[in-house]
Order: sequence, then C-alpha cells, then structure tokens
Amino acid sequence: MSDKKPVLDRSPTLELARVTEAAAIASYDMIGCGDEKKADQLAVDAMRNALNKLDIDGTVVIGEGERDEAPMLYIGEKVGTGNGPAIDIALDPLEGTTLTAKAMPNALCVTALAEGGTLLNAPDVYMDKIAIGGGYPKGVVDLDQSPADNIRALAKAKGVEPAQITACILDRPRHAEIIASVREVGASVKLIPDGDIAGIIETTDPSTGVDIYMGQGGAPEGVLAAAALRCIGGQMQTRLVFRNDDERGRAERIGITDLDRKYDLMDLASGDVFFSATGVTDGAMLKGIHKTGDLLTTDTVVMRSLTRTVRWIRGQHHSKKFSI
Ligand code: FBP
Repeated sequence: MSDKKPVLDRSPTLELARVTEAAAIASYDMIGCGDEKKADQLAVDAMRNALNKLDIDGTVVIGEGERDEAPMLYIGEKVGTGNGPAIDIALDPLEGTTLTAKAMPNALCVTALAEGGTLLNAPDVYMDKIAIGGGYPKGVVDLDQSPADNIRALAKAKGVEPAQITACILDRPRHAEIIASVREVGASVKLIPDGDIAGIIETTDPSTGVDIYMGQGGAPEGVLAAAALRCIGGQMQTRLVFRNDDERGRAERIGITDLDRKYDLMDLASGDVFFSATGVTDGAMLKGIHKTGDLLTTDTVVMRSLTRTVRWIRGQHHSKKFSI
C-alpha cells in the first residue's frame, strides 16, 4: 500500500455487504420459482433501495442496461444520498437469473464500487475473456493465443502437465472450438451452465480445482469479475465482441472508439475497488441463502483492492423484521 491518502475511506466495505445481502434476501423466495424476470426484478428493487441509503454520490456505470431498456439501475443512474464522494458503481443484482429460477448452484448478488471514473463503462454486449489466478508471471496466457497454447503455457508455469489443468467454460455452442482445443492437449473442461463471474473467481482459489477461465460472456460481468480479481489477485484479458451495428453503436455512444482494444485488469478497473458478493444458491465460493424458521442466513465475501483484505461475512437476518 502506498503512503498516498486514499480517495475513498474504508467504510464502504461493510456498507457494500449490506447491499448484496439485501438483494439476496429479496431473491430467496424466488429460488426454484421458474420466473427469471420476477427473480431479477426483486433483486434489482432491493439492491437499488440499499444503494440509495449509502452516503455516496454514486453513478451506475455497469447496470441493468441502457436507460431506455432498464427502468432501474440503468447505466448513468445516480444512486446514494448524493452526500459523499463521487463513486462508480458496477452491479449485477442477480448474476444467474436462470440458476435462481431453476434452483441450480452458483447464483450470486454482486456489486463493486470504485473511485469515480475508474471502472470501464462497458456496453451490454459480449466479451471474450481469459483469466487465471494469482502467482503466475505476467502475460503467461494471452487472449490472442490459441486455447491449446494457453493451456500449455499455464501448465509450464505451474510445473505440471497440460492434463493436470482444468479450464472453466460456459456451456454454449459458441464455445465448441475452444473446448475442442483445450481437450486436444489433454486438459479437463469444467462446463458451467451460467455465471461466469463465479467461474472467473474460481481460478483464484486452488480448492476449486479450476486453473483458467476462457470464453465469451457478458461484458458487464467481465468488469465485475475484474473488480474481484483486482482485490484477490489474478490476471485477466478481455475484448468486446460486437455482433451488429446496434452493438457497435452502444459502444460508440459511451465513448469507446477502439472497438478491437484488448483490455487487461487495470483497463477494466483501475482505481481503489471494493467488491461484494452474496450467495443466493449454494456455490463453490459462497453458500446460498438458507432459512430456518424466521431466520435467514447469508454468506457474503467483501474485499478491497487497496488493502487486499478479504472478509467472509455470515449474516443472520430475522425475516419478519427485515426491511430494505
Ligand atoms: P444473467 O444472470 O443475466 O442471466 O447472466 C448469466 C450469464 O451466464 C453470465 O454469467 C454470463 O456472462 C452471461 O449470462 C452469458 O450470456 P449468454 O447466456 O447469452 O451466453
């Protein structure tokens, strides 16, 4: 840590935990309900309410979509009381709407905040991503290398055979070539149905068995995952993917001029970043929300890049008294 006085004080750390807890609590009744939209809406409402209680002058830079398509927590929406520092907010009130609706593992509520102007304002398009955990030489993997070459390079850096490497990849037809290239060198593929923020974070935790994340997911999720990696270590490279002129227009409207640019971790989240995630359904990183009688139990991880402090917070909330 440098001697320079930080722009943000540390108080957002625990405040942010309350924000993701509130969204998870609101999602609880929606686990397994089959209604993705309703689950998302309840999480959005709860997260917005909780954010608006914070003494910050917040601007949503990664949100639920553009103003004309998302009534709440849209990109550019101001949140917080307005009293306090200018802050960029990135959020995904319910990362894994389908996972929640189908009661499948790894659904999360996620928020990051950072000094104003330091999070990439990413349009809601796809993003190519590659990520690994901490402790490797810089640049050991590269988005522009083939998946097979990245596996070989990572295996060499780890001192193991490629067959001992596991890659986490979203289970989508568009990833058929990546999956084949990874398997060609004998590495193992962990396919996930949804939730690439959790998939990327898994690369930082040896107990998950995941060494590398590869593939195309949402750009907003990419910025949120980068915020987490800034706090817990790791490397990541990304590039925005545009399928049509409408998507290119979205990027240009928010000031992105180089559409082919490769973004690394510091390009995605350069400032002092705080990150919080609360589990909705059980996952590798966090337990889901559970209810016993009137008591809801939440599991949250909250971290800050400046200090690299990571806190695991087990919350107990009386459902009858809980108001957001
Ligand atoms: P939602 O919670 O918004 O449904 O996102 C889930 C997710 O799996 C993300 O983690 C991922 O980045 C994105 O969807 C992938 O998009 P697609 O489902 O179109 O492949």
